[in-house]
Amino acid sequence: MNKDKFTVTAALPYANGPLHLGHVAGVYLPSDIFVRFLRMNGHDVAFICGSDEHGAAITLRAKKEDVSPKEIVDKYNALIGQAFNDFDISFDIFHRTSAPIHHETAQEFFTVLNEKGEFTKQTSQQYYDEEYDQFLADRYLTGVCPNCKSTNAYGDQCESCGSSLSPTDLINPVSTLSGKAPIMKETSHWYLPMERHEVWLKDWIQEGRLNGVQQHDPKAWRNQVVGQCMSWINNGLRPRAMTRDLDWGVKVPVEGVDGKVLYVWLDAPIGYISATKQWALDNNKDWKDYWTGDRKLVHFIGKDNIVFHAIIFPILLKTHGDLVLPDNVPAYEFLNLEGDKFSTSRNWAVWLHEYISDYPDKIDELKYVLTSIAPETKDSEFTWKEYQTRINSELADILGNFVNRALVLTHKYYDGNVPARGELTSYDQEVLEDLKAIPGRISALIYQYKLREAQSEAMNLARLGNKYLADTEPWKVIKEDPERVQTIMNLALQITANLSIVLQPFLPATAKKLSDFLTFNSNDWNTAGGDELLPQGHTVNKPSILFQKIEDELVEKEIEKLKSSTMEESKFDPQKAETSFDDFMKMDIRLGKILEAEKVEKADKLLKLLVDTGLDKRTIVSGIAEHYKPEEVIGKTVTVLMNLAPRKIRGVESQGMILMAENEDGELSFVGSEKDFEAGCGIH
Ligand code: 2FM
Ligand code: ZN
Repeated sequence: MNKDKFTVTAALPYANGPLHLGHVAGVYLPSDIFVRFLRMNGHDVAFICGSDEHGAAITLRAKKEDVSPKEIVDKYNALIGQAFNDFDISFDIFHRTSAPIHHETAQEFFTVLNEKGEFTKQTSQQYYDEEYDQFLADRYLTGVCPNCKSTNAYGDQCESCGSSLSPTDLINPVSTLSGKAPIMKETSHWYLPMERHEVWLKDWIQEGRLNGVQQHDPKAWRNQVVGQCMSWINNGLRPRAMTRDLDWGVKVPVEGVDGKVLYVWLDAPIGYISATKQWALDNNKDWKDYWTGDRKLVHFIGKDNIVFHAIIFPILLKTHGDLVLPDNVPAYEFLNLEGDKFSTSRNWAVWLHEYISDYPDKIDELKYVLTSIAPETKDSEFTWKEYQTRINSELADILGNFVNRALVLTHKYYDGNVPARGELTSYDQEVLEDLKAIPGRISALIYQYKLREAQSEAMNLARLGNKYLADTEPWKVIKEDPERVQTIMNLALQITANLSIVLQPFLPATAKKLSDFLTFNSNDWNTAGGDELLPQGHTVNKPSILFQKIEDELVEKEIEKLKSSTMEESKFDPQKAETSFDDFMKMDIRLGKILEAEKVEKADKLLKLLVDTGLDKRTIVSGIAEHYKPEEVIGKTVTVLMNLAPRKIRGVESQGMILMAENEDGELSFVGSEKDFEAGCGIH
């Protein structure tokens, strides 16, 4: 038997938001099925994941929520980790890239490559936001995608078409910080000269494709993976910057260098290695065993991550030396939801943690549906209607019905004891042959990463059992031929026992229930196909209902929830993090009247105002000079934040702040009093 050793990774989710069903269907569930199957087959396997806690995905989220990046990653690492746990995804470790062991590992990796001369240092002009004093890489830039013309592509990636981009590829780039067009400014970075690796990469990737075409070798890479990589390579690989001018991330480990961190797509895949190190430390193992020698490295990812896992990370692994390259990179297409793309910003999503909290007893039901529709070779769609149909007419009517009949009849006729098997008819023999063949067919499909078909094949065993009972009608035969019924029920019970094995990778909780009903437990895949798993006289328990049918109300409720909680794509900033009533009441906001106004010397944006606040007359410096001339503002009633700590702006002490409304074009407007209330009136 094939006893390959595996290290299986699942893409590290950004710790910047919760997981939705698209993530689950396209990475975490298939990898979990694959790993559970490998374990049952006695493979030595490590299953690695963690949260990706660096890069602009995190810092931009922190800016939106008005909290620190650390608060963001702590919050979402915990939320995501809990959801994985509740959904019973069987990682050996769920780690995080903010851990010190990760920073050390990534820095060491960088140093090894740097000392080997695998990077080049280049000075270049890069996009820069003058207002924020910051270089703009990756998600700090948005613009039009040169490939699909989507208007909200990022500087490193277009989420609409999945293509990987460089900032200069974007048409009409705009800073996501200020919303303004960036300028160019000089900076220097470490680059990975990818063009040096074109030749071997081409051969290596072609090898994956050829294996598939010729003989359905398990090593066959999906067409989409080979296609994306070859198109990248054929367009000519270019040097890619591996460092960034940012202060959140893994510091560049070079003496005298400050304010630069590793590119998140350099540090994140190394996160697989650092997570393995942590797991090895916790379990008295040697991490190197999982990254060297004849170990098969498999990366489960979404299609937008292909080039990072099938080109860039392999270059890093190979140039580092002594580490294995991926054996396969099963990448998934995208899952849509009720006719539209999943969208975090519009809240068009079914969030995993919400599903778990609403339906804690329907975990396997969701797993089943998601695997049935998994976007393995093309985009697919989740609808609540299909969720209902698949659960009711497949899980309940076929699997649930069969198991229930087999066990209820065993109790009715034989007090729960497995009856003896008599002579087999040719139909019985056919059924047993199918029973023996199914586990092998499932295996072959799983080794080829065809998990959707594999689950369907496992369900064929339930179909076989259901049909067998419907065809043989033991409830009718019992009167005239009770001996025949003993054979029928014996076979039906053997099928049920087999189901408790072959369903384990896909529906672990259901398989466990079957084991409990049968008082039979095997975690060894090789026992599947056996027709004497339950000996004559073995006692089984009475069953309970395996799957409750899904009512129309649930479908209607979920569709309504989706529609009512979705937001149209907003041009405005999202709502900030919640604040308490007490905190709000600490702010002293009042109407004020501007008495005098003059420009602040050498500051184009600032006006110095004298404001009557009802309590006093005070000086406030306000950044409105590009929008109002001094003479235009005198006499205006405005809103003043009174108790903001005084601060010196261009040498003038400002004792409060004028609150302004700002539209999408950055124009400002005073916020005053509709009824002409006098200065000093409180605003609550
Ligand atoms: O696309 C994403 O969600 C990335 N956080 C995936 C990283 S995978 C790995 F390289 F860490
Ligand atoms: Zn695009």
